Amino acid sequence: MTVTIVGAQLGDEGKGGIVDLFGDAADVVARYQGGDNAGHTVVHQGEEYKLSLVPSGAIRGKVGILGNGCVVNLRTLFDELDTLRERGLDPDVRVAERAHAIMPYHRVLDGIEEEAKSDDDLEAGTTGRGIGPTYEDKVGRRGIRIGDLLDPDVFRERLEYVVPQKRALVEDVFGMEAGEEFDIDTLHEEFSEYGRRLREENMTVNAGEFLADSIDGGDNVVLEGAQGTSIDIDHGIYPYVTSSNPTAGGACTGTGLGPTTIGQGEIVGIIKAYLSRVGTGPLPTELKGDDTQEELAEYIREEGGEYGTVTGRPRRVGWLDMPMLRHAARASGFTGLAINHLDVLAGLDEVKVGHAYELDGETIYSMPPTTEKWGECEPVFRTFDGWPEEDWEAVADEGYDGLPEGAQAYLDYLSEELETPIYAIGIGPDRSESIVLERPFEQ
Ligand code: GDP
Ligand code: IMO
Ligand code: MG
Repeated sequence: MTVTIVGAQLGDEGKGGIVDLFGDAADVVARYQGGDNAGHTVVHQGEEYKLSLVPSGAIRGKVGILGNGCVVNLRTLFDELDTLRERGLDPDVRVAERAHAIMPYHRVLDGIEEEAKSDDDLEAGTTGRGIGPTYEDKVGRRGIRIGDLLDPDVFRERLEYVVPQKRALVEDVFGMEAGEEFDIDTLHEEFSEYGRRLREENMTVNAGEFLADSIDGGDNVVLEGAQGTSIDIDHGIYPYVTSSNPTAGGACTGTGLGPTTIGQGEIVGIIKAYLSRVGTGPLPTELKGDDTQEELAEYIREEGGEYGTVTGRPRRVGWLDMPMLRHAARASGFTGLAINHLDVLAGLDEVKVGHAYELDGETIYSMPPTTEKWGECEPVFRTFDGWPEEDWEAVADEGYDGLPEGAQAYLDYLSEELETPIYAIGIGPDRSESIVLERPFEQ
């Protein structure tokens, strides 16, 4: 069976930790979208692993697949594999031949386009990893797929078509100089070498076939989403979004498994107990505007270590946004929830939740479809009693009943509002600092 892990908010909800937590019962962990814009953290016995491309099952020695829906920067992938090997792990990662390669020119174009958009405040605050330009080329049918790198002639043909267009874009449209990232021979040399390495190390697969065979053979598969619902290209706060589908539908198109297979499994929405945001755009429940709110934001940022895993940027912070979560639960059909970072809110007198929005004189309970309207939404808050700091390892040993009363009331509210049971609760970054209520592979 499959368990699909989906970010319910704006990314960085702690998906990596939950993949690791449920990963004991898994045989394979597959990413279905995104690329090295992701930064997923696993902490086990005090050791911290930050993963951009290698699926989070690697820490437990599970086979990792980068599905066809991913965009893969092979420089990052091989670096990450080397680093993990230096740390004593033995990651087994296979890449879909249908996945698209992020080329050096995609990264350059990401930077140039963000800069150009910033004049009109339209930049998404991207991670600069070339994600958008690579997905654009995929949809524009001028992308380079991992399978193309395995055949030097096919690869050269693809480069000869696309690179002159990219060069012209940089020089003629943006009036800049195109560097070696736009040189066909240089690109061909470096990336054919990656192709050779992929082949030699037997690292490429037909993802759909591989995963379907695994499931038919009785294997358990985790489908690890990156990013989150509100930065989904279709369901998020366009244009301040990423260029793929983190929602559960992306798990079908991004792996080659059918919706029936994925629908027979579990779909777990990962929620951070408040909001954090690395990019730009509106954020109705953001903590800002006066000293009290800025201080609260600063407190949560420090307690939660809210600095980007990929970029190191300080993250914006806000109260939990229920309309955002109702939208996420519907778009992906969550069958369970994992709620992380409850420990971060400990010590506050009260904890607020954006229960609904006021928009144009009406109360609404889900996100409006345009980002401009979302920006006009005024949150209607509910206030919960805070809860004290605890010895979280001890609470984890005791389970749900060991949680402070205020935290229990907060969790019960969330589960009731989203009409979805809670499977896991995060009360610290380490694998041991979590409470498991249901094991999705045993459902
Ligand atoms: P992801 O992108 O969704 O995998 O999340 P990130 O790894 O980018 O960000 C989550 C951060 O919070 C990481 O540093 C995690 O180690 C940490 N984390 C995860 N769950 C918890 C939790 O329950 N409590 C605390 N304090 N930190 C957590
Ligand atoms: P994980 O998987 C949080 C944000 C960027 C930017 C927008 C577009 O760790 O949760 P992109 O580089 O994808 O074109 O940037 O999306 N973003 C993320 N925010 N977590 C992520 O990944 C993100 N990946 C992209 O900050 O606003
Ligand atoms: Mg992250």
